[in-house]
Amino acid sequence: MARVFLSRELPFAAIDRLRAAHDVDVWEGSLPPTPQQLRDCAAGAHGLLTMLTDRVDADLLDAAPQLRAIANFAVGSDNIDLDETARRGIPVGVTPDVLTGATADLTFALILAAARRLPEAERNVRTGGWLTWEPAGFLGLELEGATIAIVGAGRIGQAVARRARGFGMRVIEVRSKDPLAPALREADVVSLHTPLTAKTRHLIDEQALRQMKPTAILVNTARGGVVDHDALGRALHAGTIAAAALDVTDPEPLPASDPLLSAPNLIVLPHIGSATHIARERMAELAVQNLLAGLAGEPLPHPAR
Ligand code: DGY
Repeated sequence: MARVFLSRELPFAAIDRLRAAHDVDVWEGSLPPTPQQLRDCAAGAHGLLTMLTDRVDADLLDAAPQLRAIANFAVGSDNIDLDETARRGIPVGVTPDVLTGATADLTFALILAAARRLPEAERNVRTGGWLTWEPAGFLGLELEGATIAIVGAGRIGQAVARRARGFGMRVIEVRSKDPLAPALREADVVSLHTPLTAKTRHLIDEQALRQMKPTAILVNTARGGVVDHDALGRALHAGTIAAAALDVTDPEPLPASDPLLSAPNLIVLPHIGSATHIARERMAELAVQNLLAGLAGEPLPHPAR
């Protein structure tokens, strides 16, 4: 029996299979462990089940010399230093595919909410501002016939593209080798689906925002770091773009005092892209499959790379 540490309580059925096979210890806090707490808890572990809120770096790996496998409860792995884990021969697993539909749905919820100004319109009703039906009130973007640029055409980007085509949108897929500027200039909606890497950090910066149409909407359900938030705040205040809808921010959580929150036409969610019952159950299942394989010395079924 190996010792496994889970950095958060996971109330999903798959964890019972892990418990049946190994000695499982769970972080009981409702907030993530601090780096020091994670190092302390991982010290004797052979397997780790980590969240995207945990930093897995050389310091943590030094503190856990017996580690044989890491399963990240996410499809992204930007919280893990994969060069360092590879150097030490520790396999890392992620949870692809099972959250694709959930994340694509949430992306579309954000696109529709921003395009049709739902938060603003709802506030209008609740605050007594709705006095009569307005011939030109709350005019927004009609998706049919509009152009969406999908930046990062991997699994989730493709799923968003399918939904967009269903809405009658014209889709421009931007892969990592493609130039971004022509798509930004044409798009009514720019939706980000690229992993966060050294190359994609602040991919959407001041210059990129200036290349977008003043009527365009920026949607980010990938990673907060892909967007330069200072530049985004300035662009929303100046009307360089019409609106932004973010499920991910930099940092997370975004403090209530963060200047970005004072920007107009901004929707922000607390990183809930994969938060459906079925997606999270399946993510737990994949994470357990990864850990069981790694601890048995077998190749991980869903490796990070
Ligand atoms: C992931 O899996 O990387 C998502 O961002 C979490 O839902």
